[in-house]
Amino acid sequence: MSQKKLSNQIIYLDQAATSRPKADGVGDAMRAYIDEVCANVNRSTYAPATDASLRVLETREQLCALFGFCDPTHVIFTPGQTVSLNLVIKGYLRPGDHVLVSPLEHNGVMRPLTQLLERGVSFDRIPLTGDDELDLSAAERLIRPNTKFMVLTHASNVSGTVFPIQEAGKLCHSHGICLVVDAAQTAGHMPIDLSSQMIDVLCVPGHKGIRGPSGIGAMLLSPAFAAHLDPLITGGTGSDSDSELQPRYMPDRFESGTPNLPGIYGLNAALLSLLSEGVSLRQERENALLRRFLAGLDGFSGIRSIGTRDVSRRVGVVSIDCTRIRDNAEVADRLANEYGILTRCGLHCAPNAHKTYGTFPQGTVRFSFNSSNNEEEIDAALAALQEILG
Ligand code: ALA
Repeated sequence: MSQKKLSNQIIYLDQAATSRPKADGVGDAMRAYIDEVCANVNRSTYAPATDASLRVLETREQLCALFGFCDPTHVIFTPGQTVSLNLVIKGYLRPGDHVLVSPLEHNGVMRPLTQLLERGVSFDRIPLTGDDELDLSAAERLIRPNTKFMVLTHASNVSGTVFPIQEAGKLCHSHGICLVVDAAQTAGHMPIDLSSQMIDVLCVPGHKGIRGPSGIGAMLLSPAFAAHLDPLITGGTGSDSDSELQPRYMPDRFESGTPNLPGIYGLNAALLSLLSEGVSLRQERENALLRRFLAGLDGFSGIRSIGTRDVSRRVGVVSIDCTRIRDNAEVADRLANEYGILTRCGLHCAPNAHKTYGTFPQGTVRFSFNSSNNEEEIDAALAALQEILG
């Protein structure tokens, strides 16, 4: 029987773009803030304002608990991953500085860095080995006296390949440089521990693996990194109001203006759910779905699936290139329109990742899942692909 959809039912396999559904309690928490709390933080001492301030503090503590970090004052809320990466890259680097990046970085990293080229900042891309590993020996040879940090996507949003953060952290620290990690595709998908993995900056979105709302993210900063980081946004903090100078202390130094409080209430609920379920359990379920999908793809001819086959070095992101037999956009459109299966096609804001994998400029059809997906959805996606590809 054809797998074509009979109703408006959808199978959501675009978790790398944003999670769906959100964690239990996210919508309720956001509504409760808007309908019941509805007060600003750090400015007044009446009850709703205190409630909001405590919820913000609690959310910093939850992020510390999730990421093995000990200082809630160095957890900075931002509107999301792109803003965090801009704040880190543009706030830290000075003319003449050099950084190392992986060849799989998203434009959230590459566009700020490219923008800084005209201000005298330079970068080198670390190559991959044949087995889709980061070539850390090559990275070591690329380190220069003016190298300030290495910025790595923890897992590629194109191939799902996970980089060896701990080894990269060791290398960076042995040369006195910092490690900045873009955890867009790993936060909430797999355990991350700042201290043992020697991460100096971790940027996390609220709306992906953590399953909170969009418009809220965080950066976790080591004290040494924070001390050298210029705040790009300054303004009212509710503190030191007798002065027109930005406070130097944390987190106020990097948090001016009214924060996204509905977003923080939603993120708090998502983190509560994640911490009580446990990230390792989610990772196990996601890996089982990944194994099933990769095994199913083995039966297809005429398509190319990119990234490592080693599931222990991968998250639930699978890109396929069908152009030998079908146009990729046509495949994604038919999956959506005829089968209700939602994927993302194209270059995924990561052109150099596609160049690295030989899928530029045609791009790929990307399937991405998390532990809220199930085996029936994976099987339905494989069956629909089979019908479309013939
Ligand atoms: N960066 C997100 C993605 O890969 C939006 O789809």
